Amino acid sequence: MEQKPVLIAPSLLASDFLKLGEEAAMLNRSEADWFHLDVMDGRFVPNISFGLPVIAAIRKATQKTCDVHLMIEEPGKYAEDFQKAGADMLTVHYEACPHLHRNIQQIKKLGMKAGVALNPHTPVSLLENIIRDLDLVLIMSVNPGFGGQSFIEQTYHKIAQTRQLINDNNAHALIEVDGGINAANAGQLIQAGANVLVAGSAVFASPNPEETIRELKAAAVAGLGKM
Ligand code: DX5
Ligand code: ZN
Repeated sequence: MEQKPVLIAPSLLASDFLKLGEEAAMLNRSEADWFHLDVMDGRFVPNISFGLPVIAAIRKATQKTCDVHLMIEEPGKYAEDFQKAGADMLTVHYEACPHLHRNIQQIKKLGMKAGVALNPHTPVSLLENIIRDLDLVLIMSVNPGFGGQSFIEQTYHKIAQTRQLINDNNAHALIEVDGGINAANAGQLIQAGANVLVAGSAVFASPNPEETIRELKAAAVAGLGKM
């Protein structure tokens, strides 16, 4: 059973936008592996966050992987713009892509890693015919659109199903989980088969974000030991 790295991806959605430079510097110093950047269009999800210029600015402030989570309709229209802004990984929602295969090929052709996100109600089995093309599967553990929501317990089962799908197809995708993650559930998520844990409010609402990232990483790595 293959389960590659254990990575922590703080979501800047919960950061202080007035101090983005300092927040980025803190993440650079920390044990964070990726910067998770949530783009919302007010159509696919009922909220609007930030877009291309903010991502381009963050790109200049870090060498770490910029993991862009697009919660937008028609992501294919903007894939090239996100590549130019500095995205390393571009994740689109299954529910927003009637031509998912085309979107994934486009992202890879642009030189980025390609991910697909699944809303909480979307079955993992729908990825059966595309799993081998993916670099990342993002399992939403809350309904996308807002930070600070509570974790949906069914997620553990979906992670296990995704791990099975990857193994059965000899695929290489990493499994990322997003929403309601903290040091208390990080270990169990890794144990269920996840590789990348996104955390927004747990990190940025904490009095010591750098220390919280260290705790998340330690809890995640401990989960790996229990497999
Ligand atoms: C939600 C976003 C998440 C969000 C997670 O739609 O995709 O990345 O920032 O925030 P927390 O960790 O607070 O649930
Ligand atoms: Zn996200």
